[in-house]
Amino acid sequence: MRIGLLTGGGDCPGLNAAIRGVVKHALGEYGHSVIGFRNGWKGVAQGDVQPLGRSDIRNVLPVGGTLLGTARFHPHSEDGGMDAVLGTLEAERIDALVCIGGDGTVHAASKVAEAGVPMIAIPKTIDNDVVGTDLSIGFHTAVNIATDAIDRLHTTAESHNRVMVVEVMGRHAGWIAVNAGIAGGAEVVLAPERPFDIERVVKFLRHRHRAHASFSIVVVAEGAVPAEGTAMDFTQKLGRFGEIVAGSVGEAVANEIAQRTGFDTRLTVLGHVQRGGSPTPTDRILGSRFGVAAVDAAASGRTSVMTALRGDEVQLVPFDEVAGRVKHVPDELLRVADALA
Ligand code: F6P
Repeated sequence: MRIGLLTGGGDCPGLNAAIRGVVKHALGEYGHSVIGFRNGWKGVAQGDVQPLGRSDIRNVLPVGGTLLGTARFHPHSEDGGMDAVLGTLEAERIDALVCIGGDGTVHAASKVAEAGVPMIAIPKTIDNDVVGTDLSIGFHTAVNIATDAIDRLHTTAESHNRVMVVEVMGRHAGWIAVNAGIAGGAEVVLAPERPFDIERVVKFLRHRHRAHASFSIVVVAEGAVPAEGTAMDFTQKLGRFGEIVAGSVGEAVANEIAQRTGFDTRLTVLGHVQRGGSPTPTDRILGSRFGVAAVDAAASGRTSVMTALRGDEVQLVPFDEVAGRVKHVPDELLRVADALA
């Protein structure tokens, strides 16, 4: 078989582990070839091909980013995009295409599959909001980075008696905010799942500082929004693909806290730091498992599926259970973040 491979959407640590898993397993177990496409779906549309052999994946396991490059490009929303993609796949004689991506890439994969291409998706996103899988590649590393940042902010917050607002990524779901908030011992966690009331946040901080503390850590997911009818006026700034302009809600929350409490308040926007650097062992292992599972799926003709971690097992989930949906943080986890404030 000739297996095509691409990484699409925002990058994250662990993508190279998945690429390596696909290449090693395809070549070693089945004697298949792997044809990489550079820069996501854009590379497929443009015929930007990079055949992948063993030498291409040497020493990539600890390296962040993606050796194939990536781009935010959705063939079904670009003029002539689908025709260009189908033309390249035919010219390259691709028997099955493995795409590693988040919700946007999986959605594009389901559209290309509808046009008759055997497709397999591997979920990645630091946001961890892909439905059908317990974990997506990149999330574990991002939580580690955000937790480390919160730990560091704790000591300086305490020295200066400050409120530290930390904005983390998470457009539609607050997985990083809630997990890093719990792990880092944040006092307040604001997530998209639960629109917030700034008055309540301020009341809580005032009470805490009066009663027993002189500093606080407030973690805000970039997609958090004030509840309708509450005191804060805020409009989220969005980019072309719905990506959030980093710092917008963090800045608004920090300003409100500073103005309403008079506490010395600082903002840290973690931004793309959360997507960089070496993957944790968990992300390396997850990427490797998904890579192997995707090749097995292609070899056995199981297509229009996404690899997924469910409990301890890697399983295959049909696209129609996944595409176009968001996996939100459950109430139980949100309540833990509140309980430990
Ligand atoms: O989807 C992952 C993500 O990191 C989001 O958390 C964030 O809003 C977005 O990508 C940022 O996108 P870009 O890299 O295009 O600025």
